[in-house]
Amino acid sequence: MTDTPAPGSSRSAAGAAPKPLLAWKAEYALGIPGVDSEHRELMDLINRLHAQLLDPGAGTGVMDFLGELFAKISSHFALEEKLMRDGGYAAFAAHKADHERLLDEIRDLMDDYEDGEWVDLEGFGGRLEQWFSVHFADHDARLHQWSSPSPS
Ligand SMILES: [Fe+2]
Ligand SMILES: [Fe+2]
Repeated sequence: MTDTPAPGSSRSAAGAAPKPLLAWKAEYALGIPGVDSEHRELMDLINRLHAQLLDPGAGTGVMDFLGELFAKISSHFALEEKLMRDGGYAAFAAHKADHERLLDEIRDLMDDYEDGEWVDLEGFGGRLEQWFSVHFADHDARLHQWSSPSPS
């Protein structure tokens, strides 16, 4: 970790291009183009929100960032959960519980920020990447194989 910026001003050193919060990795790909592109879009969107947060001219605060992040992630989860509910997916409860775990973490960060506590957004980015890599490879891979089995 570098310097510790003040809450709400998680900025890079002057002049340095902001580092994306999340980096797509080859192992995230499930090999199902529709799902992979949806997951990539979600990560791109989170990076765009994060870049806005780092841009002093954008006027985006930490709560705006976390609120939008929460909305985008939860709408992706809601789609998957509808698919599972409608189709009577056997592992629905476990998959949904993992979604809730991440949403709870984002809610906790928002609460901490509102309570005036320091929120480590870069550290959260690392945990988010870790969560995505495990969730994509496990729950989402199984869900999408179930919902659209490969033709071979
Ligand atoms: Fe997903
Ligand atoms: Fe999922």
